[in-house]
Amino acid sequence: TWTMVNIVDEQVERIRAEVGSKRVICALSGGVDSAVAGALVQRAVGDQLTCVFVDHGLLRKGEAEQVEKDYVAATGARLVVVDAQDRFLDALAGVSDPEDKRKIIGREFIRVFEQAAREVVAEAGAGGEEVEFLVQGTLYPDVVESGGGTGTANIKSHHNVGGLPDDLAFTLVEPLRELFKDEVRRVGEELGLPPEMVWRQPFPGPGLGIRIVGEVTRDRLEVLREADAIAREELTRAGLDRDIWQCPVVLLAGVRSVGVQGDGRTYGHPVVLRPVSSEDAMTADWSRLPYEVLATISNRITNEVREINRVVLDVTSKPPGTIEWE
Ligand code: XMP
Repeated sequence: TWTMVNIVDEQVERIRAEVGSKRVICALSGGVDSAVAGALVQRAVGDQLTCVFVDHGLLRKGEAEQVEKDYVAATGARLVVVDAQDRFLDALAGVSDPEDKRKIIGREFIRVFEQAAREVVAEAGAGGEEVEFLVQGTLYPDVVESGGGTGTANIKSHHNVGGLPDDLAFTLVEPLRELFKDEVRRVGEELGLPPEMVWRQPFPGPGLGIRIVGEVTRDRLEVLREADAIAREELTRAGLDRDIWQCPVVLLAGVRSVGVQGDGRTYGHPVVLRPVSSEDAMTADWSRLPYEVLATISNRITNEVREINRVVLDVTSKPPGTIEWE
């Protein structure tokens, strides 16, 4: 629309004025905000921008490929991908406590990003202009929440790259500071980003790591990724994506129950469907999904994911339940 075109043009001008001929770095998380912020900066200053994507192995099915292929195709962004899956899984080995998982994932993310940023900085310095700016996908509600200050990032999750050492102190570029989430999505569409990326549900920085109740392992991630992909596919097919806020699928890795399939007894794990409706994630109600959609999701998951023999529905509002299980 006309308004979105205006917003894009205005931001592109501002970014150009701010950045000049310096270099910029942007951490892509796979989420909407960093993707749109990065795309705006790319539109403004082209190859002065380097995007860094840390693949921590905790993303959902297809999401890493979306960043590596579709995002690059849509924006032309120069992208450095760091495959850090082993490192994250090693660090998470034996850990079940939710807060410990969050801390470990956050800590590893900063370390990996720091190293990647150093390489980008060194390479840029050798070839000319220094890297001086870091893109942040800060939205208007974040600005208001943090008192409207400028220059310092509001650190909501580890994907807002706080905690970098002083010698990697960047000036922040925050092209989404005046926008609400729905405007960010429309700007993303205007910039030609893939719809699956633009309309993606909120997804926690620690990813599937906090949707496995119990220790995070490669096998469990694989199981959860399949179950989650089926749920997302069926919700999309039913046209429900924009009605619900998000629908975590949670693997109860420490629980087994008896089932029967064909002639055989099974002893598998349950997954929990946690569909919620919400305005801002501060409070939420469980979504009254149509029974047919629930039935299809349940049938498909138990048929297609061998390790799962039971699908249960979470009917708890927030409060008292949080949206995520961890
Ligand atoms: P809860 O579970 O607290 O979730 O009701 C509220 C919203 O925040 C998301 N969430 C997170 N996002 N890092 C994030 O970036 C986190 O550690 C985290 N934990 C929860 C959650 O998906 C929901 O949208």
